[in-house]
Amino acid sequence: MLLKDRVAIITGGSVGMGRSTALRFAEEGCSVVVADINEAEGKKTVAAVSKKGKEGLFIHCDVTDTSQVQDLISKVISKFGKIDIMDNNAGGILGQPSGIIEGITDERWQRIIDLNLKSAFLCCRAVVPHMKEKKYGKIINLSSMGAVDPPGAGADYNTAKAGILGLTYDLALELAPFNIYVNAIVPGPIRTPFWDPLAKSVPDADALFAAVGKNEVPLGRMGTPEEIANSALFLASDLSSYVTGQALYVAGGQPLSPIAMPV
Ligand SMILES: NC(=O)c1ccc[n+]([C@@H]2O[C@H](COP(=O)([O-])OP(=O)(O)OC[C@H]3O[C@@H](n4cnc5c(N)ncnc54)[C@H](O)[C@@H]3O)[C@@H](O)[C@H]2O)c1
Repeated sequence: MLLKDRVAIITGGSVGMGRSTALRFAEEGCSVVVADINEAEGKKTVAAVSKKGKEGLFIHCDVTDTSQVQDLISKVISKFGKIDIMDNNAGGILGQPSGIIEGITDERWQRIIDLNLKSAFLCCRAVVPHMKEKKYGKIINLSSMGAVDPPGAGADYNTAKAGILGLTYDLALELAPFNIYVNAIVPGPIRTPFWDPLAKSVPDADALFAAVGKNEVPLGRMGTPEEIANSALFLASDLSSYVTGQALYVAGGQPLSPIAMPV
């Protein structure tokens, strides 16, 4: 068991990568708190965690809101006595990419930055005093390949995800003396509900996603949320005991370009 008796908070753990990570952590002996705004799906994640024999808890939390994040941390400490792992996973594009810069309103810019960057800042700021006291912590921040190799126009989201890398590097340095590890996962395209709005807008989503994998990913396919969960497990566990301040690309070979092989 790689996470025996650990306690993790996973933001955005109701569906997608967050749910897979919750289940993977539970399999390794970790109690898991799902912090999300989607209560119905979050409770399903928690039920699945319990089925694996570990304690799960859903806490309704909008991670863009300072007081809700502070409450989240307080509630988890009072219930479990500690927080070992903070997986700052919640994020997204509010249904669709922004497109070109002229189309990004002030309001959208702010909402995307809040959801994808401020959220991780708020969670780190709230959890760090506790981790310092315990002299232990593993923080994982979800960036995106869009931060380093944008697949198309999307300055709001890609900038927020680049900010996640800055936050990760800074905090890794600042918190290393306290035995608090801070790393980022940089996913390539991963098939989760993140893509549902796009999937619903085309006649054959499977064909579209197969083409994305073939044309844009050296390994020739999109990734799975379980593959992100396995990377999160590495960063959350003592397997990564000499790893901090890193951006782990879990992206099927991106940002390398697939080679069109002559046949
Ligand atoms: N799926 C991909 O291809 C991909 C690629 C790169 C990066 N990412 C990033 O990885 C992370 C996980 O992505 P995913 O694909 O599992 O996303 P997803 O859309 O499937 O799930 C996101 C979860 O975040 C929750 N959430 C949204 N707003 C919230 C808020 N204000 N407060 C709390 N929870 C909130 C949602 O309810 C949902 O449960 C995100 O940060 C995303 O930006 C995804």
